[in-house]
Parts: sequence; C-alpha cells; structure tokens
Amino acid sequence: MNYPILKVDTIHTYYGERHILQGVSLEVYPGEVVVLVGRHGVGKTSTLLSIMGIQPPKQGSILFNGKEIVGFPCWEIAHRGIGLVPETRRLFPDLTVQENLEVGIKYNSNDYTLDDAYTDFPELTNLRSQPAGYLSGGEQQMLTIARTLMGNPQLLLMDEPTEGLAPLLVRRIAEIIERLVNRKQTLLITGQNIAFALELANRVYILDTGTVKWSGAMEQLQSHPQILQRYLAV
Ligand SMILES: Nc1ncnc2c1ncn2[C@@H]1O[C@H](COP(=O)(O)OP(=O)(O)OP(=O)(O)O)[C@@H](O)[C@H]1O
Ligand SMILES: [Mg+2]
Repeated sequence: MNYPILKVDTIHTYYGERHILQGVSLEVYPGEVVVLVGRHGVGKTSTLLSIMGIQPPKQGSILFNGKEIVGFPCWEIAHRGIGLVPETRRLFPDLTVQENLEVGIKYNSNDYTLDDAYTDFPELTNLRSQPAGYLSGGEQQMLTIARTLMGNPQLLLMDEPTEGLAPLLVRRIAEIIERLVNRKQTLLITGQNIAFALELANRVYILDTGTVKWSGAMEQLQSHPQILQRYLAV
C-alpha cells in the first residue's frame, strides 16, 4: 500500500487537567474508509478535534500528506485539505442555506460547486433561500455535509453523522456517504452504532477510554464479532 494520507502517532490530548487521549495512533490511506468506534465519552470527538487543530494534542504527532500539522490553527489545517462535519452542526442559523454553502467555498479550488451540492442534496434546492436555523435536524445535517464538501477536502472527517436522526434519515445519510465512497473520497467516520458505516469500512479502530484497544481490517472484525460487542456493550 502507498503512504498514509493521515498518520496520527501517539497523541495525548487534555481538557485542562483532564488527560483524555492517552496515546492514540491511527492511519488513513488514500481512498480508504476508516471507522473509529467506541462508547460514549471514550474520546472519538476529541480525536477528530485534535486532528483538526481545534483541541490540539500536547504530545505526539499528526502527519497529513507526510507533513506535521500539530500546532497549526484549524483554518490552516482546513486549507491543507481536511474537512470536518462536526457532531454539533455548526451552521450559521441566520444565513440562508445558499449563504451557508458559500461560506464553505475554498478560494483556491472550485472542484465542488453549488450545482454539485444541489445535485447531491436535492432536498436543499427548494430551501436555498431559507435561513439554516429553520431547517429540520436532518436537513441541517445534509447542509453541514454539503458545506464541508464545498471546501473540497482531501480527507473528510465525520463525527457521528447519523446520531439522533430518524431511521429514514439515517438511510439517506448512509446513501450520501456511499456516494462519496464511490467517488473515492477518503473518509474517517466516528460512531457508536454505525452498522451502515461498518458496511462501507475498509478498516476499523476501537477506542476505549482514550486509547485504541483494537484495530484491523473489516473482514477480521466480521469473523470476530465478539470484539465489537466487548467494547460497544452498554
Ligand atoms: N470541552 C471539554 N472540557 C472538558 N472535558 C471534555 C470536553 N469535551 C469532552 N470532554 C471529556 O472528554 C472525554 C471524551 O469526550 P469525547 O467527546 O471525545 O467523547 P466521544 O467518544 O466523542 O463521546 P460521544 O459518543 O458521547 O460523542 C469525556 O470524558 C468528556 O467528558
Ligand atoms: Mg463525540
């Protein structure tokens, strides 16, 4: 295999005195779908925030395309090609759908256009002049994904993309992710109960209280389902 697009190496991340990530390491190769699973509070979001430079690690290294990104501000990391679809949808509620999409545009690239966004997310087309704050939870999630895609991320991080959504919407988001996978979008997805993501995954990391407890290819996990049960059992 070629070299990893992302190499997280033994990162330690803190919130004040609280030592949350205790040496997390993971890799993502180009075109791969990697899933990071674990129960509530084990550090999935913190891992993504560390990669994005929002909650940077105090120790350890994160290489993106072979270059160290720890210490860079999050806008610089976004500029280099990492996009985050956050758990809490950070839209601008007073801006319209279209304005929110425009905010996501990266100046130096125009690969993914507004037309592409409305093609991928037809449900946003008739809402384009609506303030984002008026949208339903599912529509907001679609807009958040669409906005992140407007930045043409080379690596897309998605934090629990179907959390709190009704089954029909979970299926719709799964469909969107499948479409991204077919376009060879490199993805790192977190979640607790993400059967759909596991179906698409090439590799899986299981996180438990700030450390990776197991990692391997999806086929290995399929032949040892007890591994998943052990770390996801409530
Ligand atoms: N801003 C913060 N300040 C202090 N502690 C925090 C903060 N954010 C998260 N934590 C703590 O860090 C730990 C890991 O949280 P994190 O949000 O990364 O977990 P998670 O795996 O994403 O959980 P969930 O499945 O609930 O989203 C938790 O114990 C949480 O209480
Ligand atoms: Mg989380």
